[in-house]
Amino acid sequence: MDSRAPPGWFTPPATDRPNTVGGSGHALWGGRFEDGLAPEMEVLNRSLDVDWRLWRHDIRGSRAWARGLERAGLLSSLEAAEIDRGLLEVERELEEFDGPSGLGDEDIHTVVERLLTEAIGPVGGKLHTGRSRNDQVSTDFRLWGREAVDLLRGSLVPLIEALADKARETADIVMPGYTHLQQAQPVPAGHWLLSRAWPLVRDLEHLRAVHRDCDVLPLGSGAIAGCPFDVDRAALAVDLGFSRVSENSMDGVSDRDWAARLLFGAAMTGVHLSQVAEDLVLFSSSEFGFLRLGDAYTTGSSLMPQKRNPDVAELTRGKSGRLVGNLMGMLTVLKGLPTGYNRDLQEDKHAVFDSVDTLAVVLPAITGAVATMTLNPGRIGRALRAELCATDLADYLVRRGVPFREAHHRAGELVRIAEGADHELGDLTLEEMTAVHPAFGEDVYRVLDPAASVESRAVRGGTSGAALQAQLEALAEAVEEPATGTVPPPPRTRPGRASGRRIR
Ligand code: ARG
Repeated sequence: MDSRAPPGWFTPPATDRPNTVGGSGHALWGGRFEDGLAPEMEVLNRSLDVDWRLWRHDIRGSRAWARGLERAGLLSSLEAAEIDRGLLEVERELEEFDGPSGLGDEDIHTVVERLLTEAIGPVGGKLHTGRSRNDQVSTDFRLWGREAVDLLRGSLVPLIEALADKARETADIVMPGYTHLQQAQPVPAGHWLLSRAWPLVRDLEHLRAVHRDCDVLPLGSGAIAGCPFDVDRAALAVDLGFSRVSENSMDGVSDRDWAARLLFGAAMTGVHLSQVAEDLVLFSSSEFGFLRLGDAYTTGSSLMPQKRNPDVAELTRGKSGRLVGNLMGMLTVLKGLPTGYNRDLQEDKHAVFDSVDTLAVVLPAITGAVATMTLNPGRIGRALRAELCATDLADYLVRRGVPFREAHHRAGELVRIAEGADHELGDLTLEEMTAVHPAFGEDVYRVLDPAASVESRAVRGGTSGAALQAQLEALAEAVEEPATGTVPPPPRTRPGRASGRRIR
């Protein structure tokens, strides 16, 4: 993670502290105009309230650009030192600000350049040589984007770990596994929990790809046609920690694919979190009672004293809507753009900031809820219906050479007989069973035990204790070193058949 990411950087700016810099606008482009902007146009034009949070990145990019200009012989070393000192002074000044309210500037680039010129005089005007706000904003945004990706990855890992810890803790609890929300086959609770962790591992891997996309330096692209001066872009990239430079200046100023892919990743994570949340809402309901969310993550009702509401899960589920919406918004902005830079692109930041902020709030909360929830083995055990093992009954016959189709049919008959007599499958007598198929023997009752059923599925990715252990190890490896583009190597521990080994 980039240690330069300032703490609390995603906190929305507060506006209650007085600004120390006046609010007189300082347009960067006034020369060819006789009149100023109409007030209503100023409001539309202004992006400062959104791009304010890029100020550190703008200063960082500007300092690197000044060094680039010096290397290209466009600034004397005295001028370059003066500009660097000025930018550091601007940085200290902006540290004192809580937000842009009261500033009349158009955007953060204008603020920085104005404060620089106020600090060091006309030599500040040399900083923008060969640069446009188009390559500048694209650079600032990517500098921010790399930090955001690291932060998101850093917030996903604790949730994956919380799910894994809970899976280890609850490995002995056998619960109904569902299809169509109907009881299907028994699974360990840990298997359910890990089924919610793997999608998040894929989200981590997606973010790695976003980081690679973002890791391209646009600076030096100018407005669209590149820089007329001999600025060493490779050196600039090294200076700013980018591993590549953009190869086409027109693409360099207009490429926001990384931002769209970040938004896709955030939306996908939102969908995954929403699914986890839905499980928590459902399983914590009175009807299920499989789990209880910790006091710290539930709320009561102002009217109904008995209520214990799963707000953490509902809010997580609800916020996924705006994560999906932000992606749609961005794709819609990008869709109709003609060649080159277009001002529409200014709309890119709001969506990305909002999605990252949303996840920065949601992820820690849902992580805490998972870490502190308790499963109720009694309620889960009582919910297990014997029919969950109907498939095991068919598999029993298959092991005795009966073709699966017929075995399935015979098991179904037994379910029908049990249902008709208001019995559970295990209550059927051996005579009743052998009447349906002669291959049934005394040992059939063993396969009707949900724990045995779970233990019998020992394939990799299956439900046995050993398979679950191997899954946990594979998960830990995937989180440490997410596999990209390759089939992950098999986990070190191979699941043994029905070994009865339980997770540590
Ligand atoms: N605030 C602008 C943005 O976010 C900066 C670039 C302005 N460029 C321009 N040609 N007006 O995109």
